[in-house]
Amino acid sequence: MSQVCNIALLGQKFMGRAHSNAYLKAGRFFNLPCAPVMHTIVGRDLIALAPFADRWGWHRYTTSWKEVLKDTATELVDICTPNAMHAEQALAALAAGKHVACEKPLASTLKDARAMKNAAARSRKCKTFVWYNYRRCPAVALAYQLVQEGRLGRVYHIRAAYLQSWGGPETPLLWRFQKKYAGSGAHGDLNSHIIDMARFITGQEIVEVSGAISETFITERALPDTGTRGPAVSRRKKRTGKSDVDDCTLFLARFGGGTVASFEASRLATGHQVSNTIEINGEHGALRFDLEDMNILWYYDNREEARTAGWRRILCTSAGNHPYAGAWWPDGHLIGYEHTFVHVVVDMMAVLAGQEPTLPLPDFANAYETQRVLEAATLAAKHRAAVRLSEVK
Ligand SMILES: NC(=O)c1ccc[n+]([C@@H]2O[C@H](COP(=O)([O-])OP(=O)(O)OC[C@H]3O[C@@H](n4cnc5c(N)ncnc54)[C@H](O)[C@@H]3O)[C@@H](O)[C@H]2O)c1
Repeated sequence: MSQVCNIALLGQKFMGRAHSNAYLKAGRFFNLPCAPVMHTIVGRDLIALAPFADRWGWHRYTTSWKEVLKDTATELVDICTPNAMHAEQALAALAAGKHVACEKPLASTLKDARAMKNAAARSRKCKTFVWYNYRRCPAVALAYQLVQEGRLGRVYHIRAAYLQSWGGPETPLLWRFQKKYAGSGAHGDLNSHIIDMARFITGQEIVEVSGAISETFITERALPDTGTRGPAVSRRKKRTGKSDVDDCTLFLARFGGGTVASFEASRLATGHQVSNTIEINGEHGALRFDLEDMNILWYYDNREEARTAGWRRILCTSAGNHPYAGAWWPDGHLIGYEHTFVHVVVDMMAVLAGQEPTLPLPDFANAYETQRVLEAATLAAKHRAAVRLSEVK
């Protein structure tokens, strides 16, 4: 290993843990051309920071994200804060000459996302990355390879849904339910992932959005003290507050290559936990993926004789055949959610060392295209009309 990269990670909760784990594990399982160094962890809760740093192996901790930007040792700033903070932190990090890895969605508004994309384009020596980690499930990566090889031929349909059920009336008013922190609800949180997956697998861009519906079923929520999905966002002056983001958003889309698609995101899909599913139907075959069974890719070959044709269940754990699989366990042994973040780190380190990533990594410019689709669907739902992406800049 010739190169190292000092990381400053902003945010110490859900994604803070997922990314810390990824930085720890990447170099143990993969031969990295550049080693991530867990330099500084940044969080708001000073009391929790020392044990967090100790547990995960961060060398330093601080409550000031602006301080780590002044530190010449910091080379990459990893943003794991609520969506509305991404722009300010990313713009400052780029201005300070740091590489930036930002959690998804890129920002809470299209305006902020555009500013981030433009700043990244100006800072030519700084690399940017966005943690659309599901691209890096070996099964999704295989789907990408098969579609790019033409195994499906012309792609007719995509059916994508990301269904969860944790957002019932018992869930308090976390930042995720407030537009000023999140930008949107299930839409930016969950549709962003499946829009990215559909764009990635097909290599096509969405040109029109229609039939969009957004609904907020639960408009009033208890103010939290703390919560399992994030900290309290305001002091307890009153007992409840207004949730002003969507609980679900559904929409239809047309891709430039002629594919038509449906997208659905919900936090109130009773019975579903992390049911992130995508099905792709083409002229020669079809593919199907479900995050709840993430090591499996289902493949239907339309050219097989009808007598024995059927869905084939591919266990994507074969070294040398399935992306990333060879670095983990003997063939057949399963990997999980956290491994997708490790794979992001592996490919970020490759890019920082001037090498090609295993699969295309989304940067700010690429994630901006997903943000445009989010915006188009929001406008389509608001105006109950089709929106062409050429109108969303
Ligand atoms: N890639 C994925 O699959 C995935 C999964 C979950 C979350 N995310 C994204 O990661 C980012 C962080 O989400 P999370 O689940 O880690 O959130 P979280 O609530 O668990 O953690 C947020 C962190 O940001 C800090 N913070 C700073 N300012 C804050 C504020 N004003 N309000 C609340 N917290 C504040 C908190 O102290 C905390 O350390 C979001 O952009 C989210 O969309 C991505």
